[in-house]
Amino acid sequence: MKKEIILTGERPTGSLHIGHYAGALQNRIAMQNSNRFETFVIIADAQALTDNAENPDKVRENVLQVTLDNLAVGIDPEKSTIFIQSAVPELTELAFYYQNLVTVARLQRNPTVKSEIAQKERFRGGTPVGFFTYPISQAADITAFDAGIVPVGEDQMPMIEQTQEIVQKFNSLYGKTLVMPKGVIPENTAARRLPGIDGNAKMGKSLNNTINLGDSADIIAAKIKTMYTDPLHLCIEDPGHTENNPVFQYLMAFATPEHFTAFLPEYKDYAELAAHYERGGLGDVKVKKFLNEVIQEILCPIRKRREQLERDPNAIMEILHKGTIKARERAAVTVARVKKAMKLEYFV
Ligand code: TRP
Repeated sequence: MKKEIILTGERPTGSLHIGHYAGALQNRIAMQNSNRFETFVIIADAQALTDNAENPDKVRENVLQVTLDNLAVGIDPEKSTIFIQSAVPELTELAFYYQNLVTVARLQRNPTVKSEIAQKERFRGGTPVGFFTYPISQAADITAFDAGIVPVGEDQMPMIEQTQEIVQKFNSLYGKTLVMPKGVIPENTAARRLPGIDGNAKMGKSLNNTINLGDSADIIAAKIKTMYTDPLHLCIEDPGHTENNPVFQYLMAFATPEHFTAFLPEYKDYAELAAHYERGGLGDVKVKKFLNEVIQEILCPIRKRREQLERDPNAIMEILHKGTIKARERAAVTVARVKKAMKLEYFV
């Protein structure tokens, strides 16, 4: 039986961090390793330029960094196809046709695009058309590979919804041509949206509040030490709040019963630890020490693999090159089908 297809990926604008790991990468690796799917990972450099037009060097550099991050967490080029978006021009071609199927008003309602535009200083003088329409380009990325499953962070769900509407509209106008995709977000609700280490609801490189996959053990320990917790929990005896407390949100996302057995056996699991903190009598230093052990255990093997891979950038480029050739072949098949459906097939 033909395997169901997964398409997922990131914009290469900075190294990936534990927010990406919890929200998307962990799922991605588990799905790859289940061998039930065929996985494509897009390094969305063209999309990265939609809000970094004046920073081509940054995007270029991060193509390698984001690829390293993906390989370090466990993307296996033998099992998955990892490729560069701009080197698959078929994606641009599809996006051009899909633009006819989306209204300006619909794009204006996309909540992720809306909040990104509001946040960006550099868009004060006006939003670039390319940025405004990137959900359409993302629909091209997804449909070009006939992807039925798109494992992403929660913030990307509006893109999947727009893609579904484009697929629906395309298929109803031109006949059943495109595969209807479905977004998949983590089951663990804490993992869907990790706050920054400073307590900011959003974790981001530009906010300087991330723990990166490539961070050294010392940097991770230092970051966790300074992490924001409950500001009302001044003495150990005081009752603490676990809600909106990043230390507890991270533990909820990452700490398994095995971590408790190994590092904090007085507690069976997250629920017991959280209950003690809320009752009072449990200090932040002890909880942070545990969080540090958990994060170090997760990130240590990733960092080691990353350091290993980093030594041979040519090998990484070779993986991308091979992946891109394969991705291009597949996208070309879809473009041919799309053009035929749209009566744009001429010289056969
Ligand atoms: N928008 C995604 C991000 O910001 C990157 C991306 C581009 C993507 N095309 C995609 C994600 C297709 C999933 C599917 O990281």
